[in-house]
Amino acid sequence: MDRIGVVGGVALQGEIAIAGAKNAALKLMVASLLSDAPLVLENMPSVADVGALTSVLEELGVRVTRDADVPGRMCLHAESITSTTAPYDLVRKMRASVLVFGPLLARCGKAKVSLPGGCAIGTRPVDLHILGLEALGARIHLEEGYLLGEAPGGLKGARIDFPMVSVGATEHVMMAATLAQGTTELHNVAQEPEILDLAECLNAMGARITGAGGPVIRIDGIEGLGAATHRVVPDRIETGTYIMAAAATDGEIELLETNLDHLGAEVCALTKAGVEIAETNRGILAKRANGRLSAVDLETQPFPGFATDLQAQFMALMAMAQGESHIDETIFENRFMHVPELMRMGADIQVHGGSAIVKGVERLHGAPVMATDLRASVCLVLAALAAEGETIVNRVYHLDRGYERLVDKLAACGARIERLAD
Ligand code: UD1
Repeated sequence: MDRIGVVGGVALQGEIAIAGAKNAALKLMVASLLSDAPLVLENMPSVADVGALTSVLEELGVRVTRDADVPGRMCLHAESITSTTAPYDLVRKMRASVLVFGPLLARCGKAKVSLPGGCAIGTRPVDLHILGLEALGARIHLEEGYLLGEAPGGLKGARIDFPMVSVGATEHVMMAATLAQGTTELHNVAQEPEILDLAECLNAMGARITGAGGPVIRIDGIEGLGAATHRVVPDRIETGTYIMAAAATDGEIELLETNLDHLGAEVCALTKAGVEIAETNRGILAKRANGRLSAVDLETQPFPGFATDLQAQFMALMAMAQGESHIDETIFENRFMHVPELMRMGADIQVHGGSAIVKGVERLHGAPVMATDLRASVCLVLAALAAEGETIVNRVYHLDRGYERLVDKLAACGARIERLAD
């Protein structure tokens, strides 16, 4: 298993081009199942999760091609669905694969998809996905670890009130409802920018969706979707991560091909902590305002609140800030796995359930650490970039899942970072 070696203490200087959002790209790829015409996606990130989902879609009969001349361009053509079964071996590699279930039901009237299983950051059930699809008339049961569903007469529009906000369930049911008979209204939905991006792509394919990005989404079902070309939104989590890399190292990084529109709560917290974030005519410039960062409290929330996917990185900053910061994780129950690793680097953190108290220390120190999930891993890289001495981050395959060319992008800004093959 590859590792990453970092010698900390270099103030990063330079520019980084931000990729398309992984969390949008995956759902957009799944949307291709809803149409027998090609879907062309531009600005696709080059990350392992995209590869894992490609295998799932190919298993179902989707032709997936990359355009060698145009980086980031992918064509997905589900002219005919040759299988409605997504097997465990493929689904377990990437949880979001379960989202093929609803589109298969909507298009083919049946689907068999492995449950993705547990995940390091929490139990992550799919009950809300099932609730929504059952409300659309699907009959679903669980057999030997597989979700089996059928909707022989097709799905039917319905009003669905989600008892809890879920990004995946919102996207899943929204996609399925595009081909349902009649109108669907989804209440208490997630409002993440990736959901609006998916709705815009589906509408370009011919769907009739209004309200995405707000708390209620209305979908007027139609018989079939057509072809479209869609550009994936910039990755707000990658953007936030590199803003924090500049702040952690007291450097200055300009982020290109991105914008601040989707980072309201995060910019607010970072500004309070002493990070200067300014729009330039090419993107965003991030650096410390002056001197040491200050402690800021935060609570993760569904969008437009502070993103859970940036909590670990923010904690790395707070670990070296002046003062005491209280960080509450409200979305996932097990998302502090970076804490013991940060403590190995000299951080002073106490965890009580979903709350962490971080007492900033003057300096972190390099150490061998273990990556446990995608965002926890990158938090360790940020800590390592700022720490004194050398850090080895083990199990970097987590990073490959969601960060495109992380080592190259940081090295181009002067970081002493390299990938070490085992
Ligand atoms: C997506 C993102 C992930 C991000 C998360 C929250 C992708 C591929 N992943 O994950 O990076 O951290 O949103 O912003 O886009 N829940 C249930 N039942 C369900 C579904 C969810 O109880 O059926 C719970 C989850 O366990 C969690 C909370 O709802 O506690 C939010 O999860 P959800 O918004 O669904 O996250 P994902 O879509 O899995």
